Amino acid sequence: MPIAINYKNNNSKKNMINLILFVDEKFNISTLRKHISSQEYSFISDLIKSTDLKKKIITFDISSKRKLILVALNKNITNSGAEKLGAKFYDLFKDSKKNEYILNSDSISAVSKNLVGYFVHGLRLKSYVFEKYKTKKSKNNISITVIGKNKPSSKDLIRFKAIEEGTFFTRDLVSEPGNVLHPDEYAKRLSSLKKDGLKINIYDEKKLKKMGMNTLLGVGQGSIRGSYLVTMEWNGLKDKSKPLAFVGKGVCFDTGGISLKPAKFMEDMTYDMAGSAVVVGLMKSLALRKAKINAVGVVGLVENMPGGNALRPGDILKSYSGKTVEVLNTDAEGRLVLADALTYTEEKFKPKFIVDLATLTGAIIVSLGSEYAGLFSNDDKLSNQLISAGENIEERVWRMPLNKNFDKLIDSKNADMQNINYVGGAGSTTAAQFLQRFILNKTPWAHLDIAGMAFSKYGGALNSGGATGYGVRLLNKLIEDHYE
Ligand code: BES
Ligand code: ZN
Ligand code: ZN
Repeated sequence: MPIAINYKNNNSKKNMINLILFVDEKFNISTLRKHISSQEYSFISDLIKSTDLKKKIITFDISSKRKLILVALNKNITNSGAEKLGAKFYDLFKDSKKNEYILNSDSISAVSKNLVGYFVHGLRLKSYVFEKYKTKKSKNNISITVIGKNKPSSKDLIRFKAIEEGTFFTRDLVSEPGNVLHPDEYAKRLSSLKKDGLKINIYDEKKLKKMGMNTLLGVGQGSIRGSYLVTMEWNGLKDKSKPLAFVGKGVCFDTGGISLKPAKFMEDMTYDMAGSAVVVGLMKSLALRKAKINAVGVVGLVENMPGGNALRPGDILKSYSGKTVEVLNTDAEGRLVLADALTYTEEKFKPKFIVDLATLTGAIIVSLGSEYAGLFSNDDKLSNQLISAGENIEERVWRMPLNKNFDKLIDSKNADMQNINYVGGAGSTTAAQFLQRFILNKTPWAHLDIAGMAFSKYGGALNSGGATGYGVRLLNKLIEDHYE
């Protein structure tokens, strides 16, 4: 970061700076003759004989000013394969001193797949760092000028940029600490999305009270900050057809409340608003690329704090749906926020489907680690669409069961239900069963428990650690493949 990518037809400095060229998986360099001088060609044809060709990216130092970098593309390379090569390129060269490159797209033979676009996209996604609070910023500026004919079209460039900006917006929100991104500040930032063409409605505590959103309000009542429900509408079809709905848990900080978390499990809870941030980033992407769909994002923003006015274990709340909830554990707060947000979304927008995202349970990390989000759904078609979108762009989901026998476990003696399961076990499923009780009209619904996916200590294929932005690309792909 920062990465500068330019697209040009030619570059006069072409022979003086680093050059990136694509070759086939066997490093058959004869195709490169026309792109480099004959001295350079014989230089690398000699050296390549003693090079380990198992690597996908090989560098030749031509002079102190110029490296030739060969990137090998398999015959069957996929878009995400090209993204991962871009990310690998970033990792290899992010600390180099001379970081100016020409990428000659004419060295690619398989044009149709838009591989240059995906390569650069992967590189950019990987290059994100959150250094707002570092007084010394990292210096690695990479500049790539893409020349030649096989460049992405301007339409593709808009699409890539929209996904990148949406993902980065999500990562920025997730990375902010709780003292900065509290619900008041979060609501303000969402209001700024009007400039991208989204219709934003912010419901504050006073309005929410009138509407009867008492489970959402209950979670926030121990905090000095406000509680909010924010809706973001994108009307890409310019008609009244049913929107796709995305709902997110936005707990800006989760102390657990009166059922206080131990310190070891509390420090990470700045990312307990990741579900909402994915919804926000997705909505921003849809607006930036002017997606031909109607969609709505709904987020519940609260801070879960202990305090004189906080919820007590045993308190009973009446939700927006009318159903009553006994709060046995104030740390099972995400489901209380989502309960009201789900019923409201279904009733107000009558969507085609609802997908909710939440860092809902520690138990899903026990089950699936950081490889899959947990998927719980009342609808096979929607589930399969999510599974295949996830496999395709490598943000995977794994379907988990829902069943009336699990549902029984949240029946309460004193109210319609309780917010934790009384026998223990299947913690992610009983949380999902709780959510399902707030879908009142059988709308196709999928819940993604992203507790293990939202934040990465060590980094993944397309992120360098920290907030991953997991979910933005998944849902964007779901929309592109099935609804646009
Ligand atoms: N925000 C947490 C879940 C979580 C844990 C997210 C670890 C990310 C990483 C959630 O609000 C919570 O505290 N859940 C409890 C539920 C329990 C009290 C039934 C949990 O998972 O322990
Ligand atoms: Zn909690
Ligand atoms: Zn939480």
